[in-house]
Amino acid sequence: LSADGALLPGLRVEVVEETGSTNALVAERARAGEPEGLVVVAEHQTAGRGRLDRRWETPPRAALTFSVLLRPSVAPASWPWLPLLAGHAVGKTLRAVGHDAAVKWPNDVLIDGRKVAGLLVERVDSPAGPAAVVGIGLNVSTSRQELPVPEATSLALEAGGAPDRTALLVDLLATLGESYAAWQAGGAAAEARLAESYAAACDTVGREVRVDLPAAQTLHGRATGVDSRGRLLVEHDGTTTAVAAGDVVHVRA
Ligand code: BTN
Repeated sequence: LSADGALLPGLRVEVVEETGSTNALVAERARAGEPEGLVVVAEHQTAGRGRLDRRWETPPRAALTFSVLLRPSVAPASWPWLPLLAGHAVGKTLRAVGHDAAVKWPNDVLIDGRKVAGLLVERVDSPAGPAAVVGIGLNVSTSRQELPVPEATSLALEAGGAPDRTALLVDLLATLGESYAAWQAGGAAAEARLAESYAAACDTVGREVRVDLPAAQTLHGRATGVDSRGRLLVEHDGTTTAVAAGDVVHVRA
């Protein structure tokens, strides 16, 4: 697997055969002062990480697993947009090659209600300033046994053939680069556009949901949209709560 080009300014793609976690590897490089634009792709992760301290492991080449190092110039208050922006970019890329992909708030990508990609965005502080590591795991395997969780899906299972992972990576980086540049340059107006476009592509919006909040609280209600800070709006008990972080379960349409 290989890729290069000027898709993100300063893009440098490194491919490793095996590592624990590309997010951990890129975070280490960020701490050592590595500039924005490093992408590390692993053919195999032996200690892949998911959100909420979960594991995210797949056999060699069963997924496209990579992490991107970004050093956004926008105010840290806007950084919660990054996982949504990146998930939305994955969804757009998959739709462009014919998949009926949607995002699930905050940062899963679904095809036909099943998870095809997960994202883990982590903030790293370093003497060179703060950085964000955007980790993406996209299932490509032809075998259901090779999925990170049994109820997931993969591009091969959806399309009846294994995709070209290099072409996919190039497309993903191009779309991500474009969305990232528009967000960085566009200020509040770009975030308002992003909120609208994300909500339109989001399978969560319009559904009955259960949200497991970080403080072991649970919210039941209907997701009605995404606000200008990327928070999920949930209508319940005659009021609307803006959820900044939580695990969402789609209850029904
Ligand atoms: C989730 O669904 O909970 C997030 C999964 C994120 C997996 C990707 S694979 C590349 C990167 N490196 C990791 O260790 N995790 C992310």
